[in-house]
Amino acid sequence: MDCYVTGATVKRLREGKQLTQTALAETIGVSPKTVSKWETAKGLPDISLLDALAAALDVSVAELLSGNPVTNRNVSGNLMRSRFYCCPVCGNVLHAVGEAMISCCGVTLPPLEAEEVDDAHQLTVEPVEDERFVTVRHDMTKTHYISFLAYVTSDRVQFVKLYPEGNAETRFPVRGRGWLYVYCNRHGLMRQKI
Ligand SMILES: [Fe+2]
Repeated sequence: MDCYVTGATVKRLREGKQLTQTALAETIGVSPKTVSKWETAKGLPDISLLDALAAALDVSVAELLSGNPVTNRNVSGNLMRSRFYCCPVCGNVLHAVGEAMISCCGVTLPPLEAEEVDDAHQLTVEPVEDERFVTVRHDMTKTHYISFLAYVTSDRVQFVKLYPEGNAETRFPVRGRGWLYVYCNRHGLMRQKI
């Protein structure tokens, strides 16, 4: 976490919820003057109040501290609009149906932005019976490798973890049109229509 909650964040979230300083103060058990002091940078909420303050403002504690509340715009849960997150420290991979506040190893993870597949990460897709055999011609050394492949359609995510010194290939049962994702530990996330 970069910083503590700021008065500007409290004010913006409180006004967004159309709460008065008095209403917020009553909900969390402090005086209206205390809330006013926070918002004008003349004081900070005690750490024991953060849970209650976050709940009253309808955000997570992490969002309250970062000042970046997250709104999931993909409420229908369309998997075609889902996001991948990858921890730069431990390599953990997380998937979310929409936007989320996700952290791992103490790092707040941004959603990976997928680029178009480039020449160095070309995907070969061959039909084999009712499957698609996907190959990436790419290094699989300990320092530079394809970390995962995913085949995403509107209702299903097929995710295959790959490992250094293994083969950069897998088979996916055919599920219709969607996105084929490839993640390289050095070059990031790329995708192509399938
Ligand atoms: Fe690469």
